[in-house]
Amino acid sequence: MNVRHFLRLSDLSPSELRALLQRAIALKKIQRDGERYAPCAGRTLAMIFEKSSTRTRVSFETGMAQLGGHALFLSPRDTQLGRGESVEDTAKVISRMVDMVMIRTFGHDNLLRFAAASRVPVINGLSDDHHPCQLLADLMTATEHWGDLRGRTVAYIGDGSNNMAHSWMEAAQVFDFRLRIGSPAGYVPSAGMLQSGGDQVTVLHDAVAAVRGANLIVTDVWTSMGQEEEAAARKAILAPFQVNATLMAAAAPDALFMHCLPAHRGEEVSAEVIDGPRSVVWEEAENRLHAQKALMEFLFGIGPVAALQGD
Ligand code: CP
Ligand code: NVA
Repeated sequence: MNVRHFLRLSDLSPSELRALLQRAIALKKIQRDGERYAPCAGRTLAMIFEKSSTRTRVSFETGMAQLGGHALFLSPRDTQLGRGESVEDTAKVISRMVDMVMIRTFGHDNLLRFAAASRVPVINGLSDDHHPCQLLADLMTATEHWGDLRGRTVAYIGDGSNNMAHSWMEAAQVFDFRLRIGSPAGYVPSAGMLQSGGDQVTVLHDAVAAVRGANLIVTDVWTSMGQEEEAAARKAILAPFQVNATLMAAAAPDALFMHCLPAHRGEEVSAEVIDGPRSVVWEEAENRLHAQKALMEFLFGIGPVAALQGD
């Protein structure tokens, strides 16, 4: 089945991703100007959430409504998935009824299996390995501030082994910026990701060295969803990697701060940083809406970016 999916950032070509970010900025303006743009009338997005969500659910559901379509929230608790119906059977059934599927799950393999059996585009709304929709919003936010990320240095501080770290690694490849990952030993990107990471990515075990002179400091929760039993150990090991004012002082004087949220003030980030003048986390969260509208439009094959498909 020749259907485009968005399971990781590199599923789109560099030119598609660049155009998508520009389209997201244009759709944001359309929304802010109060113009109606609703090309998805009659279309339905199914959203399967096996993990909690605030931003992803609200942005996809609202985005689909703004585009004129309908979004359907499905949790394993209320569907037969939770009673053992297979991923493949679920994909075959749902994709005969809806026009697009977004899935938030644990193992990335669940997404690959669903996509392989689906007749319609599948979007990764977060898996244990990747969070590409968040990167669309993060890259859009950086683009709004700087125009381009090329030649910049991004420091990702904290758990370098999680979905956000992996997606930032893919972004560094595509958008040609340096990425320094500052993480304790044992919390570094997977070997496979490091191997394909190219020259753009450096892993350091010293937070100050990682942020030195960087233009953007990024962090994420120390305990991702599904790792709750490890929370105490992670808190102890990751403590020296808190993004606070002392650490920010080592970055470029005008460095920005991003966090995909939800945040834990006093753990991975101090209140003075996340609530301070360098923080762009609220724009970053809002941009989930605009970036995903551009993504859905693209995967539906409508709008200006769809014309680039395959470039
Ligand atoms: N950043 C993010 O994905 O937030 P939610 O978990 O609230 O969807
Ligand atoms: N790494 C975090 C991201 C939350 C949006 C998690 O997987 O829980």
